[in-house]
Amino acid sequence: HLPADLAQRLLAYYDEYGRDLPWRQQQDLYRIWLSEIMLQQTGVKTVMPYYEKFLSHFPSITQLAAASQEQVLAQWQGLGYYRRARMLHQAAQQVVQQHGGLFPEEITQVQALPGIGPSTAAAILAIGRNQAHTILDGNVMRVLARLLTLELPVDSTPGKQRLWQVARQLTSQQRPGDYAQAIMDLGATLCTRSQPACSRCPWGGACAARQHGSWAEYPKKREK
Ligand code: ADE
Repeated sequence: HLPADLAQRLLAYYDEYGRDLPWRQQQDLYRIWLSEIMLQQTGVKTVMPYYEKFLSHFPSITQLAAASQEQVLAQWQGLGYYRRARMLHQAAQQVVQQHGGLFPEEITQVQALPGIGPSTAAAILAIGRNQAHTILDGNVMRVLARLLTLELPVDSTPGKQRLWQVARQLTSQQRPGDYAQAIMDLGATLCTRSQPACSRCPWGGACAARQHGSWAEYPKKREK
């Protein structure tokens, strides 16, 4: 069982040390959506200049929808995983056709857009509208697997079920948007794949992997 104040401790850490990123502190769902798609497979440092350049070419969903696929791919050039750009473009056209160009604010409608899975949909509406949705991306899976020293493989159905359950239990109901960004920051900056900075972690001794010095063993994966 977990201490009840983990979300609070993480938020206090985020308030003091959270990164000041261009897509934070604003509520434009298009901009938040774009940042989350770019950040799916690419780190913050690489994304930043692409993010600004992309928005200067396509300042609104309507303008993105009206562009040709070649124009969109040209702005994605160098970021990789070009399927993301094609789905982003398709999704923009869907938003124009089905939602009058306004990004939807209901999670089932967000999840119905191409390229947006459950965690990305949750991140967009938590960050942009402070809706109390839970995120669980690869970085968060690593953080939680270490917190619990989860023996179930994170790429198995029971492992995922357990992680979603814990992720939901931890999510701050008061500040779900800040909480989503805070736990992503924790995974990106402290609870990194190799050499995590456990001594600076706001969760301290609540983390089972830290207690046992066993961070390198988690997350467990299915044997291949
Ligand atoms: N990775 C994915 N989304 C992120 C966000 N909003 N902040 C930091 N890292 C992220």
